[in-house]
Amino acid sequence: MKDALKTLEKESQAAIDQAKTLEDVETLRLRYLSKKGQVSQLMTQLRDLPAEDRPAFGQAVNTLKMAIEKALYDQKQALENEALLARLDQEKIDVTLPGYRFYQGAIHPLNQVIEDVEDLFVGLGYEVAEGPELENDHYNFEMMNLDKDHPARAMQDTFYTDETMLLRTHTSPVQARAMLAKSGQPLKIICPGKTYRRDDDDPTHSHQFMQIEGLVIDRHVTFGHLKDALLTMARHLFGPDRDIRLRPSYFPFTEPSVEVDVSYVKKDGSTGYIEILGAGRVHPNVLRMGGYDPATFQGFAFGVGVERIAMLKYHIDDIRHFYTHDLRFLNQFKGGGQS
Ligand code: DAH
Repeated sequence: MKDALKTLEKESQAAIDQAKTLEDVETLRLRYLSKKGQVSQLMTQLRDLPAEDRPAFGQAVNTLKMAIEKALYDQKQALENEALLARLDQEKIDVTLPGYRFYQGAIHPLNQVIEDVEDLFVGLGYEVAEGPELENDHYNFEMMNLDKDHPARAMQDTFYTDETMLLRTHTSPVQARAMLAKSGQPLKIICPGKTYRRDDDDPTHSHQFMQIEGLVIDRHVTFGHLKDALLTMARHLFGPDRDIRLRPSYFPFTEPSVEVDVSYVKKDGSTGYIEILGAGRVHPNVLRMGGYDPATFQGFAFGVGVERIAMLKYHIDDIRHFYTHDLRFLNQFKGGGQS
């Protein structure tokens, strides 16, 4: 019987030492220590012993039981430790790896042009005014001296949402809104914003584009004031050596009207001119509808295409680049703008 005890002691130690997983340890615990386990079975043999041998044997079985319990516990701890170390090893953070890179955004080239022009005119005492992109026919056309049957409406074929509402075809309706808001007081505004026309997109046309409108109304405003504002803007945008040229033109909201070209140096060294905007003296009808008496007040206005300016300034040959969000294109303008 002593032999059985010795055998179980040796065998259990060896088995527990070799347990590889927590499940193995549990299986061994059941094998040795459960109610019908091998240790209990040894105990049942107690009654076959002579009475004087029983206490010593009982004690020996108990000692074995405790030894097995301890061995199981130790093995379990060792396995858990091993698992923890393995996990730590796997999850270890390599602090020497390079970090994630945050890509810095930049101001869109069109917004750079707008900010640049705003900066100039705000410095000259103008206010920045804005208006809705979904505009009423009344402001977009009627108050700009283009009544329902006016043939010039066809030049600005547009997107109507119903009988009266449309995506504005130019920033000029902001003029009408600003005049009414000023109720007859002098004003100096520039109005940047998005505009829409029913064009097929190609290198020089985009159904959505941007304009900056300028409007000055006061007593004694002359064509000379307009010319000065335009020359100042052209030189601010393109450089101090530039000149402008005014050509007679037609807009329903101005009279007289001009188209404005900016000078540039051609490859052969001679001077060329390229159109940049439309302008003129505010038409008496527009003044009247806006609440100003044309006998007392005069005004000048201009409207400039932001894409056109950006294309000339940065030598861009396709207007669609501005709207297709290609980072290779946009990244070239990093570092420009105000912030
Ligand atoms: N609204 C015109 C257009 O979109 C541009 C323009 C021309 C605006 C002359 C003006 C102006 O204020 O005086 O084609």
